[in-house]
Amino acid sequence: MKQSEAKERIEKLRREIEEHNKRYYVINEPAISDFEYDLLLNELETLEKKFPEFISADSPTKKVGSDINNEFRQYEHRYPMLSLGNTYNEEELREFDNRVIKASGNSSVEYVCELKFDGASISLTYRNGSLFRALTRGDGTIGDDVTLNIRTIRSIPEKLNDDNIPGEFVMRGEILMTRAVFERLNNERAAEDLPLFANPRNAASGTLKILDPRVVASRQLDCMFYFMMAEELPYETHYQNLMQASHWGFKVADTLKLCKNIDEVLTYINKWDTERKGLPFDIDGVVIKVNSLDLQKTLGVTAKSPRWAIAYKYKAERATTRLLSVSYQVGRTGIITPVANLKPVFLAGSTVKRASLHNADQIALLDLHVNDMVFVEKGGEIIPKIVGVDHSYRNNEMKKIVFISQCPECGTGLIKNEGEANHFCPNYLHCPPQLKGRIEHFISRKAMNIDGLGEETVDLLFNNNLVRNYADLYDLRSEQLIPLERLGEKSVANILASIRSSKEVPYTRVIFALGIRHVGETVAKTIAREFRSVEELKNAGTERLTAIREIGPRIASSIVAFFADRDNTAIIDRLRTAGLKLSEGGAINPGGEKLKGKTIVISGVFEKHSREEYKDMIERNGGRNSTSVSAGTSFVLAGENMGPAKREKASGLGIPLIDENQFLEIIGEE
Ligand code: IVH
Repeated sequence: MKQSEAKERIEKLRREIEEHNKRYYVINEPAISDFEYDLLLNELETLEKKFPEFISADSPTKKVGSDINNEFRQYEHRYPMLSLGNTYNEEELREFDNRVIKASGNSSVEYVCELKFDGASISLTYRNGSLFRALTRGDGTIGDDVTLNIRTIRSIPEKLNDDNIPGEFVMRGEILMTRAVFERLNNERAAEDLPLFANPRNAASGTLKILDPRVVASRQLDCMFYFMMAEELPYETHYQNLMQASHWGFKVADTLKLCKNIDEVLTYINKWDTERKGLPFDIDGVVIKVNSLDLQKTLGVTAKSPRWAIAYKYKAERATTRLLSVSYQVGRTGIITPVANLKPVFLAGSTVKRASLHNADQIALLDLHVNDMVFVEKGGEIIPKIVGVDHSYRNNEMKKIVFISQCPECGTGLIKNEGEANHFCPNYLHCPPQLKGRIEHFISRKAMNIDGLGEETVDLLFNNNLVRNYADLYDLRSEQLIPLERLGEKSVANILASIRSSKEVPYTRVIFALGIRHVGETVAKTIAREFRSVEELKNAGTERLTAIREIGPRIASSIVAFFADRDNTAIIDRLRTAGLKLSEGGAINPGGEKLKGKTIVISGVFEKHSREEYKDMIERNGGRNSTSVSAGTSFVLAGENMGPAKREKASGLGIPLIDENQFLEIIGEE
């Protein structure tokens, strides 16, 4: 390769890798498999070795990817969070062993084999036996402070009790979501028409970055620990230290194994390649670590990874097949989801005919053409996805796939909003899957819970022109239903009874049931707390809406657009006439409303009540708890030793600090 060609290729590879890093670490939507990523990185490394004149300190080969998210506070890692060298074959693993043996001066070396958990890495600092701070990997040097989220994970110990706990130490581990929890979460999201997570890893790392710890708590994350660091560790070997950690209450997988030599390591690798399918969570390989800390020190680290450890990665199960066509599904909010129709192929225990393609960007990134030979991957129980194209099968006659510009169901021109990944059909009023989808959402369990009705019955009613929107449900009469095929008298009575009893469904769930774009269950709860009636919500402008912390411009404009539509307001008027709960009946906060509309940050330590009690008091009095000081904060309830950063920020923004006595006076408790 000529020098100029090499330069061009290096630059292209760097750009591509940066883009994949961003997709993987920041937006949690990887477009290629780890294997393909490693191929790109290897090619870049090889070129940089051959053409050292193009080496640059900010090349992706010199740094670990970054997942920094600006909404969290960032702190420096006491010990940088390195990544691991990878290999996919035995030969390279033996080379690793040879290097280690050479450095040790012995004839064989003891290794600890662990599963390589496929989640998000976390670094926990413990001070005087208590969890002090939890940081994500970030860029390896600085990570996001996600301590509040981490405290919601039940398997992570808050306090340790033993005699020999170092004053300060760091535990590293992997935050995981089990496949079972992942599936449940995605099913719930599908029901709410929210974008699905591609796999448990993305779901786990996405969850860690949620700003509301209550949502994090509901996601049932887990954590496996694999590394302890301190100025002075309890033992001389990695294995003993992990056993010690396990004794202190950290979850250390019992799958780890002490191996006497590289052959035992290979046996372990092969065993788990077959047995991994039976694990409750995903792994993507095995990590092999030198057991002796002394030898670890001798081997040292490179800028990116330790020389005393290596990851043996399993190839995700994949198959090659032909892409026959792409079809497009329309969801209840009009979002268009492209789906690949494949020549059926057997993959990891089942025949795959379809694969998800997410959105137009994904199709463009993969540069798909009709009849392409594509690589399909399936990890765990995940919907298979296309991860790449085998270009050797490409010919000039194959047509590039162009994303549709009109709705496949109603022909309306599609729209894509700036900053959003999905196209959607704006024909809110007449596009059949949207009409049906909204009714299906309305009757669903978490919304109005009209369990006498199901998807099929909605289809039947829709096709017989009995319902066009959810208000029509409340006008249904039994003489209209009985003549319909498949509906007997008894089931008609059931349907009508469950429609009637839905009138008792609480206001919060009615808001969710309306199916306003971007208003999921959590946002609906926020809205119900801030606006006591649908009428009040209807009259709230963008400004009032965006003043609420959980509501950004995207949600606000969707709410405003919903109520600006006369058809929607007419439907709501009919719901009111039918007797649905369109306002909050009694007081939501039996404690009173003294803090209504106030957003309060608690900081520091208190004498009279615990922080939890204060949080409760705030909510009972109609106020809202928030964890970070911003322009929207009404005041800070400040105790002893208030965090200096919060103090500075509050004073910069002119936000008052109130001590516990003043606070108790405000709510009338003292
Ligand atoms: S040890 C210096 N052990 O893999 C050693 N890492 O590619 C650092 N991982 O960032 C890591 N399981 O998130 C180690 N048993 C294990 C692991 C593990 C998963 C992740 C970890 C790390 C990444 C490196």
